Amino acid sequence: MTARWHINIITLFPEMFPGPLGQSLSGKALENGKWSFKTVNIRDFAEGVHKSVDDTPYGGGAGMVMRPDIIEKAVRSIENPGRKIYLSPRGTPLTQKLAQELSEEPVLTLLCGRYEGVDQRVLDSEQFKEISIGDYVLSGGEPAALILMDACIRLLPEVVGNAETTLEESFSGGLLEYPHYTRPAEWRSADGQTRAVPEILTSGNHRNIALWRKKQAETLTQSRRPDLWQACQEKSGKPEKGKK
Ligand code: ADE
Repeated sequence: MTARWHINIITLFPEMFPGPLGQSLSGKALENGKWSFKTVNIRDFAEGVHKSVDDTPYGGGAGMVMRPDIIEKAVRSIENPGRKIYLSPRGTPLTQKLAQELSEEPVLTLLCGRYEGVDQRVLDSEQFKEISIGDYVLSGGEPAALILMDACIRLLPEVVGNAETTLEESFSGGLLEYPHYTRPAEWRSADGQTRAVPEILTSGNHRNIALWRKKQAETLTQSRRPDLWQACQEKSGKPEKGKK
């Protein structure tokens, strides 16, 4: 039986799944049927004695390219593929908004490439949407698929079970999250310093605490992620500094 959120994963390394997603919150959710997955092993669709799935690139250059005919067969073996995604550093960046959108799709099919990538023709003919998890190159799409899945699973209904947490956290409001503190209120760290929790947090004044947290989030975002800060300013209609 499939869950409300079902993921097909086309890969040469099916044993990489569920991997870390079999633990903790996502592992519980998997056990409880909140999400399900099925791997499709690309090797099962290879032909010939060598069962090769790749070949040298037309036009020359380094590395190998995954063959379109084999990838097509793997895709076509899936009865209901839903939205098709190819994990690639060339893709649309994965953001919280995109993760939210993908968590609302009933079925996704994730294609994990290895080597230099996949022949462009099958990406076109099967209408894969390319998604990147960041500006760096991994040795294959599998860890990227795991990250995309993790970002979506915690957004599924009844998984985190606390809508407020998701609303408050980093990116949901376009800002980085304010810092967190817990007991002990005063703590002597290994460097010999006594570090106290900011006084306001123990004041019990919820309005002032909320204002302090908002200010912290804004200051952090401004200094660490000027790109996010600018986007946030533009969204709220405030002019950028230095512009009229
Ligand atoms: N495959 C290799 N690098 C990747 C990246 N940065 N994002 C998504 N898939 C990838």
